[in-house]
Amino acid sequence: MPALTGKHYFNYGGQGPLPNDSLAAMVACWQKLQQLGPFGRDVWPWLNLELSALRKALSQLCGVPPQRITLTENVSSGCVLPLWGLPFEAGDRLLISNAEHPGVVAACRELARRQGLAIDFFPVQQVRSDSELLEALNQGLQARTRLVVLSHLLWNTGVVMPIAAVAQQLQAKQNQPWLLVDAAQSVGSLELGDAAAQADIYAFTGHKWCCGPEGLGAVVLSERVLAEANPTLIGWRSLSNESEGSSSWHKDGRRFEVATS
Ligand SMILES: Cc1ncc(COP(=O)(O)O)c(C=O)c1O
Repeated sequence: MPALTGKHYFNYGGQGPLPNDSLAAMVACWQKLQQLGPFGRDVWPWLNLELSALRKALSQLCGVPPQRITLTENVSSGCVLPLWGLPFEAGDRLLISNAEHPGVVAACRELARRQGLAIDFFPVQQVRSDSELLEALNQGLQARTRLVVLSHLLWNTGVVMPIAAVAQQLQAKQNQPWLLVDAAQSVGSLELGDAAAQADIYAFTGHKWCCGPEGLGAVVLSERVLAEANPTLIGWRSLSNESEGSSSWHKDGRRFEVATS
């Protein structure tokens, strides 16, 4: 890792260092694209193989089938693209932990403003055990709560949240609220267990604890998000058939992919 040469590097979760092997793989990929010819006939079969291998590797890491993976560019877009496609109604409520990242909170606020939703917060930084956390969640849930936002590993305190237990608690509720998990700090730093598989939206990036490049992230979506949420930021990669007269979206995670990136 060149970033470790001549200095002590404390990865506090902003951006991880790149290993030489990753750097070499990135350069080799760019060279291959140029050799085959960008957007040329020969490049697509190779690119499609690379993409499905990546989707498969990420699906194994997260314990879900590949069709539940959407490739994104960072944590924030992985949270926001599917979030904004969920079917909310005016008067619905969003329940957000008090340890979420400002970008994700801002996206919830703007969504609430546009769609007439209400926002509630529940305390997670203060709780000292999983049972206290589940109790705080229970207290925060209201009849119209349609979404809960909670990080897997809190960026401000480093505490790990019991995501699978939270998901089970929500599944037991009538009108089961969606569970959006910001996984910026968990993927690459800890065993994910059932967390990614149990959440509705589980968003992460390559550039933090995976020690990968910035600009490449992914989000795991639940089957019900794939069935009920519509694409939001739309481009040719969202379409299942580019030549059709009408727009038909991919039914798998690609419905939230956008365009050249
Ligand atoms: C918890 C958390 N969420 C979201 C982000 C934003 O990440 P990105 O720039 O990949 O969207 C960060 C960045 O540090 C973070 O720590």
